[in-house]
Amino acid sequence: MSEPTPPTDGGIGTPLSPGATRALLLGGGELGKEVAIELQRLGVEVVVADRYPNTPAMQVAHRAHVVDMLDGDALRRVVALERPHLVVPEIEAIATDVLDEVARPGTRVVPTARATQLTMDREGIRRLVGEELGLPTSAYRFADSREELHAAANALGLPCVVKPVMSSSGKGQSVVRRPDQLDDAWRHARTAGRVTADPDASVRVIVEELVEFDSEITLLTVRHTGGTSFCEPIGHVQSDGDYRESWQPAVLPDGVLARAQDVARTVTQALGGWGVFGVELFVVGDQVLFSEVSPRPHDTGLVTLVSQDLSEFALHARAVLGLPVGEVLRIGGPAQGAAASCAVLAEGYGVPAFSGVDAALAVPTAQLRLFGKPEVRGRRRVAVTLARGADVAEARARAVAAAEALTVTLG
Ligand SMILES: Nc1ncnc2c1ncn2[C@@H]1O[C@H](COP(=O)(O)OP(=O)(O)OP(=O)(O)O)[C@@H](O)[C@H]1O
Ligand SMILES: [Mg+2]
Repeated sequence: MSEPTPPTDGGIGTPLSPGATRALLLGGGELGKEVAIELQRLGVEVVVADRYPNTPAMQVAHRAHVVDMLDGDALRRVVALERPHLVVPEIEAIATDVLDEVARPGTRVVPTARATQLTMDREGIRRLVGEELGLPTSAYRFADSREELHAAANALGLPCVVKPVMSSSGKGQSVVRRPDQLDDAWRHARTAGRVTADPDASVRVIVEELVEFDSEITLLTVRHTGGTSFCEPIGHVQSDGDYRESWQPAVLPDGVLARAQDVARTVTQALGGWGVFGVELFVVGDQVLFSEVSPRPHDTGLVTLVSQDLSEFALHARAVLGLPVGEVLRIGGPAQGAAASCAVLAEGYGVPAFSGVDAALAVPTAQLRLFGKPEVRGRRRVAVTLARGADVAEARARAVAAAEALTVTLG
């Protein structure tokens, strides 16, 4: 086999041949599945590692490895075996110290090892954005114990939001409105937010002022060989820290889009590397507050599967390969119509099966992505509906109607 060379010279080999361009996805859920598909469309050999078998992305990959993503030695072995040109972290709970070692001439970590490390830790990214870059964020403090949590909440005032610094999808998060809820918030952060198998591992939390925002948006920002490009802003609603609906374009007050783009450009420039970033922002009046950023496609950006000629996944594939991204074009052209997505959740235990797929697809413009998740334990997103419309209201109504037409049973 030839030595890996970075795929930056505008060339791509043939999968499963000695000259293949190889990508290793660390984590392979529904977003990774779409990235894998886009990489495959460009002739990349795709390998997926995740902690359980038959993840959505594994089902469309050339090869798969089941490994504990927090086990540095296991990750090192997979990298040594696969010798990828691109390492693409798709989840946050990864032994990120390994990424530093892996990044070397011939192997690029996407977007960079440092960006992955900083963004997986709410403290790392807050200190960078709020303190080094001086951009506006909610007021915040950190706490390592129940006592420190009380002190932090006291200093910030209530209501506040408590989140483990290492967590995603709303896990371990609570909104605290009264002082007597702080102990429960601490307990919840310690149990639900844990990313290590060690029950004695210490938990650090961020305590944030609860922002009474007018709206929240994701600004998909693409860093690529030709510079930085933006998708039109995506509006979304979240419940229990997880997204339920998203739509594009989000309508913003005058001047807010330019401000949002400035924040997103500054933050992503500080993180560096090539790829799509999901910059989460709160809009308060004509002000923009930075919330957090994913150094990869964002779940609220699933809407781009029907709203743009190149979805966030296609843009990511091109950017990380060092290929030109071109102009980001919304289907229908600027100021023409809108698109929306609605998450489909299943709750309980078992293997999902979908009925009403015909009724869901009978909704005008509706499309579906059934993720193929092998199992549900607790509450999980198992599919998304997508639709277009003359305006945001029509697109959202269609995406919701399609989701309501679907029934998920767990067997
Ligand atoms: N300080 C805050 N003020 C108001 N709302 C907040 C605040 N922090 C979080 N939220 C709400 O909770 C949601 C989830 O928070 P956040 O994005 O920090 O968590 P997460 O676990 O990373 O979620 P995800 O992985 O789904 O992005 C936000 O999108 C927002 O709706
Ligand atoms: Mg978030």
